[in-house]
Amino acid sequence: MIQRKASAYIHKENLINNLRQLRKIAGSSKICAVIKADAYGHGAVMTSRILAEAGVDFLAVAYLEEALELREAGIQTPLLVLGTTDPGNADIIVSNRISQTIFTRELAAALSESALRLGRAAFVHIKIDTGMHRQGIDPGQAGSFARFVSQLGGVTIEGCYSHFTEADNPESDFSARQIEVFNGALDAIRAEGIEPGIRHMANSAALLLIPESRMDMVRPGVLLYGLSPEGDHRLPEGFKPVMEFRAAVTSLRDIGEGEGVSYARTFVASRPTRIALLQVGYADGYSRHLSNRAAVVVRGQRAPVAGRVCMDQIMVDVTDIPDVQVGDEVTLFGLAELPAGELAQIMGTIDYEVSCGISKRVPRVLIERG
Ligand SMILES: Cc1ncc(COP(=O)(O)O)c(C=O)c1O
Repeated sequence: MIQRKASAYIHKENLINNLRQLRKIAGSSKICAVIKADAYGHGAVMTSRILAEAGVDFLAVAYLEEALELREAGIQTPLLVLGTTDPGNADIIVSNRISQTIFTRELAAALSESALRLGRAAFVHIKIDTGMHRQGIDPGQAGSFARFVSQLGGVTIEGCYSHFTEADNPESDFSARQIEVFNGALDAIRAEGIEPGIRHMANSAALLLIPESRMDMVRPGVLLYGLSPEGDHRLPEGFKPVMEFRAAVTSLRDIGEGEGVSYARTFVASRPTRIALLQVGYADGYSRHLSNRAAVVVRGQRAPVAGRVCMDQIMVDVTDIPDVQVGDEVTLFGLAELPAGELAQIMGTIDYEVSCGISKRVPRVLIERG
């Protein structure tokens, strides 16, 4: 059957390959796979099942709702919520054995109260702000905060962590400064006679570029998916794109020289031209910024996008590609020769936004092999 609508094919073997590559680099550190935002658009439940089966140590999400989706799907892997959660949800966190990031006394106290009432432990990771100034406790308060938490009943400090602001920039010395501040905060916690548990800082870029950031656990996201963590959109050797975004040719038409294509006719044919129609548009996550600027791959050859990207459709110029047929599968990104990074560059953004932007109406189709 021809899949006429756009689909995001998720290559299981490539995901497992990328996890293996990360393991090689991480050495003895545990791996916490970051699968927030629906696994960067790849499908959180599907991705988590594969990673859990492949033995990943932890999974991390941004919100409690994302964690619950995984627990409801039967995924039992340790799960860390990276964002803060309303203290009113403490019972749900504790009863689902979810590890929660904390940096406020209110949330710590609510988790303790639930843990004692439910007769179960609450697991927490203390977030320390080492310079991102997004969330976390001030490093100067790490000791007193840990003391407060450790004196609450029912709460286990499972870990302490921080986040880099610019690990992808090898020119910057700010990451080294952040590690220093983090280690200082850990010393202050130990000085209270409290063990900080699992220490973790490294995102994908740090894992690659800053060996001393690997500590007890690393938290890669983007590299798992075969996307580049770096501003130059380069994918390090050995990693493979997990998502391939495709659509089929639904019709073909020939237009004459001087005729225009799509809204405002921003593409004007300079010769007799063959236009292929694809059922994918900006509502699927194929950005309008790609109008007249991106290319797709048809029958192994590149075909430029002709005219403006519409909400549900795009047109591509296939004049130079012999024998294109209705039903031919076209790749919009996700091949080594057409990576998501190429689109990100045109859009003036990072690789992350390309995969995260693929919308809900696009089915995620698991490809087990090949
Ligand atoms: C706290 C935290 N840790 C780890 C990651 C993973 O980062 P990356 O996808 O760059 O590996 C993120 C992603 O933004 C994050 O917010």
